[in-house]
Amino acid sequence: MSEIKKVFVGAIISSSSPKVLSYAGYLCTEFGKITKIGSKEEYNTLSKSGAFKDHQVIILKSEQLLVPGFVDCHTHAPQFPNIGVGLDLPLLEWLDKYTFPLESQYKDTEFAAKVYDKVVQRLLKNGTTTACYFGSLHVDSTLALAKSAIKHGQRALVGKVSMNIKNDTGYYNETATELAQVESFVQKVLGFKNDLVQPIVTPRFALSCDKDLMTGLASISKKYGCGVQSHISENLKEIEYVLQINPSCTSYGDVYDKSEILSNKCIMAHAIHLSTEEIALLAAKGVSIAHCPASNTRLRSGLCPVRKYLDHNLCVGLGTDVSGGDSASILDAMRRSMDVSTHLDLQSGGDGAISWLEAFYLATMGGAKALNLEQKIGNFKVGKELDALLIDVYAAGGQIDQYHYSVEKNDEDYINSLLQRFIYLGDDRNIVQVFVKGVVVKDVS
Ligand code: GUN
Ligand code: FE
Repeated sequence: MSEIKKVFVGAIISSSSPKVLSYAGYLCTEFGKITKIGSKEEYNTLSKSGAFKDHQVIILKSEQLLVPGFVDCHTHAPQFPNIGVGLDLPLLEWLDKYTFPLESQYKDTEFAAKVYDKVVQRLLKNGTTTACYFGSLHVDSTLALAKSAIKHGQRALVGKVSMNIKNDTGYYNETATELAQVESFVQKVLGFKNDLVQPIVTPRFALSCDKDLMTGLASISKKYGCGVQSHISENLKEIEYVLQINPSCTSYGDVYDKSEILSNKCIMAHAIHLSTEEIALLAAKGVSIAHCPASNTRLRSGLCPVRKYLDHNLCVGLGTDVSGGDSASILDAMRRSMDVSTHLDLQSGGDGAISWLEAFYLATMGGAKALNLEQKIGNFKVGKELDALLIDVYAAGGQIDQYHYSVEKNDEDYINSLLQRFIYLGDDRNIVQVFVKGVVVKDVS
């Protein structure tokens, strides 16, 4: 019984909007769903009346927090063996020299299964309870990625990458083969009947996929009700070539629009160099953006204007974009999103950099919305599922020392200071337990 019904008592904190946190003193779950949430006083009253006698009661220490699990809106599982190497070239050369040759190795399903098992565990260790993955071109290997997520209890969207434009590595398929394989992949993932793992249609980008392939993929996504993920407007050379091979289109966004892949189920990575018209197009279609600051810096792609996108009501989440990005941590992505935003703000002399509060929102609720999962996860509300991290801010061996000096005046100030310290200088050592749908998937407490 105690496995199934839990009550957490202590500092429970999530975003209700980009700049507003909500605080609770207890949170109760049954079968992984949040059934009650309220103040410490409410907990005491309910507890006295025996409301929690069947529950496992988890009392947080004064330096602990319960926060929503992190959402990684964009990462490439097959690129993890290249993490932290080969970052000396810009996007298109990087793809040809390092990335396509590595991804083509995933024709070996055994190799894939071994890599993916590590990838999923690494992300869970870092507090990523939901990941939106690019796999490789290969059906069986990408199914192995979905199976790893299921095995380790991670919530995931998993995409078999689609490509039909030739490259030097020979890493692409003919259009008809590709469409048949994607449909079969989608059916197989749906056939797992696992409520945490869904397929997502994944045209790599407009230099790997022509219009025939993309319109075919758009109809598969509609037929099965799945999302679509791709890359847009990451690198200036990329944009130039996209327009060269699509002379009837007015912009990169227009190429995707004419291929019918833009909708409110679509998430686009990067979106660094969008024109005003493209911002309006993506906003009108309800397209979300996966902001990947580490990758944008490492591949020298540019500085993504997240403040502007939020002001235009675009839905934004964070992505690690390994291995263009050199870190598999959404905590790192939060910090780098603040850095990029500050650098842009310094150039414009304004007062518009995103704050730690907004970075926390992007990593949790923003990501959930970007992946159309906001009814289930992203923050703590009755009826949602419990994807959460138990944070110990002063965990032994971590980066954060306790000085027994503070300027906080009240409980909220104190909790905010703990959360800020975790965001600015925490790491996986501070994430002592991870829950996905109420189930413990990491425990070092
Ligand atoms: N554009 C097309 N493919 C990729 C990729 O694998 N990584 C990044 N960062 N951009 C891409
Ligand atoms: Fe990417």
